[in-house]
Order: sequence, then C-alpha cells, then structure tokens
Amino acid sequence: MSVHYLIEINYLAAAALFILSLRWLNHPRTARRGVIAGVVAMAAAIGGTLLAPEIIGYSWIAVAFVVGTLLGIPLAMVPLTAVPQRTALSHAFGGLAAGLVGVAKYSLWMDQGQLTAFRTGAIALECLLGFLTFTGSLMAAGKLQEIVPTRPITYRNQNLVNLSLLAIAILAGVYLTIHPAYWQAFAAIIVLSLTFGVLLIIPIGGADMPTVISLLNSYAGLSAVAMGFVLQNKLLITAGALDGSSGFILSVIMCRAMNRSFTNVLFGAFGQVQARAQAGEAKTVKSATAQDVADLLTHADRVVIIPGYGMAVAQAQHRVHELYDQLTKRGVDVKFAIHPVAGRMPGHMNVLLAEAEIPYEALVEMDDINPELPQTDVALVVGANDVVNPAARHDKGSPIYGMPIIDADKAKTCVAIKRSMNPGFAGIENELYYADQTLMAFGDAKQVLGDVVKAIAGETVGVH
Ligand code: TAP
Repeated sequence: MSVHYLIEINYLAAAALFILSLRWLNHPRTARRGVIAGVVAMAAAIGGTLLAPEIIGYSWIAVAFVVGTLLGIPLAMVPLTAVPQRTALSHAFGGLAAGLVGVAKYSLWMDQGQLTAFRTGAIALECLLGFLTFTGSLMAAGKLQEIVPTRPITYRNQNLVNLSLLAIAILAGVYLTIHPAYWQAFAAIIVLSLTFGVLLIIPIGGADMPTVISLLNSYAGLSAVAMGFVLQNKLLITAGALDGSSGFILSVIMCRAMNRSFTNVLFGAFGQVQARAQAGEAKTVKSATAQDVADLLTHADRVVIIPGYGMAVAQAQHRVHELYDQLTKRGVDVKFAIHPVAGRMPGHMNVLLAEAEIPYEALVEMDDINPELPQTDVALVVGANDVVNPAARHDKGSPIYGMPIIDADKAKTCVAIKRSMNPGFAGIENELYYADQTLMAFGDAKQVLGDVVKAIAGETVGVH
C-alpha cells in the first residue's frame, strides 16, 4: 500500500473518531471514552501528517514538538477554576498557528508565482480569523486571569470603530484576492485583524468571557477550515468545521441559558457593578451558625443542594460529598440542582461534583428539580448567587430578567453559604438573601461545610 493511501486511511479514521468523540462527550457516563477517542484521533492526525512525502526534514518539527510539549504540560496542570483562561490560551495558539501558516504559504507561493485567486482568498480568510482569534483570546485569557482589567472598557462610537476596522480588513481581503501580488493589502489584513481582536474584547466584561471564548473557539475552527483549503488537507477542513460549529453551538446554549442574545454579550458591557440600593432601604438578613445549619439539615426529609461558582472558588466539592454521605446515611433524601450556567464554564458543577465522586444520579437538571422545590425542606445554596435570584422571574429592570433560575426561594427553608453580601457575576443584589425563610451562613464554603459536617458528627465547631 502506498504511503498516500496510508495517510488517507489515517485521516479517515481520525475524522470518524473526532465525530464519535464529540458524541461521547455529550454524556458524563461516556465522556471519558470521548476524551480518549479525541486523543487517539489527534495522534492519528499528527501521525498521518508526519508520513507525508512532502516533508523534507524532521529537525524543525522535532523542535516544535519539544517546545509544544514543554508549554503544554504546565498548561494541563492548572486548577479547574483556571480552565477557562487555559482554554482561551489554547485558542490563541491555534489562531496564531493558522495565521503563521497563512503568512508562510503566502510568501512561498508569491516567490514561486503560484498565488491563484482561490489560494489567496483562503489565505486572507485564514489570516483574518487566525490573527483576530490570537489577540482576542489573549485578551480574554488576560481578563479571566485579571491581568487585563475585567470591567468593560468602553469609549464613544466603539462599535462603529470596531465594525469599520473589520469592514476594512474584509475589503483588503477582497482586493488581495483580485490582486494577489499586492502584499500591502496582505500586511493590512494582519495588522487590522490583530487590532480588531483586542478592540473586540476590551468592551466585554470579564465575567462574559466564557461565552466569548467559545465564540472565539468557533473562529479558530473556521480559520482551520480555511487553512485546510490552503494546505489541501481534508482532515483539517473536517476537524476545523467540527470545532467551529461546536464552539458556535456552545455559545448559543450559554446565551440561551442566560436569556441573553449574542449582541448583548458582545456589545452589552454586562458585568459593571450596579449602584447599591439607596440609603434608607436598609434590609436585614438572618445569619446562622454551622450548628444551626446542621440541625436544620438533619431534621429535614428532603434537601436540595444548589452549587454555584463559590463552590468552585472554595474547592468545597469534597466537603459537599461528606455532607451528602452523612445526610443520606441518616435517611435524608439529598439531590443536587444543576443550573446550566452555574459557575464560569459549561458543565462546571458537573465536573466538580464528579471529581468528588458524588453519584451522578443525584445530579438533577434545573427543569426537573424546580417542580420539586416547593416540597423541599431545605435548599442549601453553596456559593451560588445569580442562578437563584428570584428577580430574574419578576423584575423587568434587572439585567438577569428572563434568565431561568433554580427556585431556591420556593423551598420551606433556604440556607445560603457565601462570604459576604457581595453580588455575583451580574453585579446585582439578590433578594433571596433577605427573604423570611432564608438563613445566611457566612464564610468560605469549604470552611462552613466542614464545620457543618463536624456538627452533624457531634464534634464542637467554631462559631461563624
Ligand atoms: P455567581 O452569581 O457569580 O455567584 C457566586 C457567589 O459565590 C458570589 O456571590 C460569592 O459571594 C460566592 N463565593 C465566592 N467565593 C466563595 C467562597 N470561597 N466561599 C463561599 N462563597 C463564595 O455564581 P452562580 O450563581 O454560579 O452564577 C453563575 C453566573 O455566571 C451567572 O450569572 C451566569 O450567567 C454567569 N456565566 C456563566 C457561564 C457558564 S457557562 N457557567 C458563562 C458565562 C456567564 P461572596 O463574594 O460573598 O462569597
């Protein structure tokens, strides 16, 4: 069999595995298989590419392999809370790689006099998307890591300026396709797309970055499709299309779960902390000690635990598991209510609870748990805020109005664990905390839950 056939078979197997991988990643039970399939597919894709007879030497490839591995290993070791910015960095590298391949191909074909209109058009698209993904993703990672200011940075006529830059870059691409040798247009595309990537992200609040990242993921995928056309590589076209469409679908799912549109995420400057309630409107909250919470929980028949971003920050998932064990041993019915955008990335809560080995059957999606909340004795909110804010149901002026929520306020008693009265992601006050049936257990979620677990076990605990 010729090497050519071997490569094609490798690519076909890799493409099939990529599709299966996405399918398996759809469910926690098959997700592990999905990850393995994705890794095998990528290995087959790289292996097939390395067999290509056009490769004249392996030394530079070896250097890239070593550098990539040295960068990749520490990137894989980041804590779960840093996964969104890690993902943004991966997209930045993907975008840069696509852009650089475009530059290399443009100069090579220019020298060889082989720049056709089709090739030049594909290179222009690849560089436009690749370079804007590069700087856009770096900015997104910077905002999530809080190296770049997380608040939306806005100025007059921002959208007009941004859209004009993009329009000029597209026009330069069209001009270049007609006049491939006009390298100045090519240089303009690179500069404009690098600038556009930065300007697109700075007016967006840090908290909206997960949605933006998955949108940038789809741009990176599309630039890989263009690169596939440039390099005449069918696998790159398939994998890029899968990447592009899955990133786009994910952004749509996130926007829906927040009841927000793409335009609102991209141009809404969401996440600016709103003015506090006016003076004179002083409201009181009732606080509870760990012992109070323990008593409430052990006397309950049904408990629903609602985890949120604070559980991830506190890394409290293992304490949550201990509490789950203690309560179920006492015959309490304990379930977890999973909101689709609780936390800062899709599936955030599922991943953390799975890591703590909480049985998957105990996790119930929002639409299925909500009808059960009125019959629930205690709703225990662990570091969740916006996803349990009743204002989303009735306050038309609230930025989260219309966002589906978990009805923690409908439980007979609600206990909310958080460190202070500070707002969550949306920067707004939560009326749930002031409700008659709500008790606040102030403190770090890991610490508070640890104390509650000790109190249930009959040990003395410090007062919070
Ligand atoms: P948030 O509304 O952000 O609230 C998290 C709460 O956790 C905060 O109020 C904070 O209060 C508390 N907290 C932080 N650290 C803590 C700790 N160590 N111990 C105890 N509590 C702690 O979180 P949520 O309810 O999970 O909602 C998620 C938000 O993110 C939604 O608005 C959603 O739209 C948005 N979002 C999510 C996604 C995805 S895909 N998940 C994507 C984009 C946007 P204290 O500071 O007082 O402790």
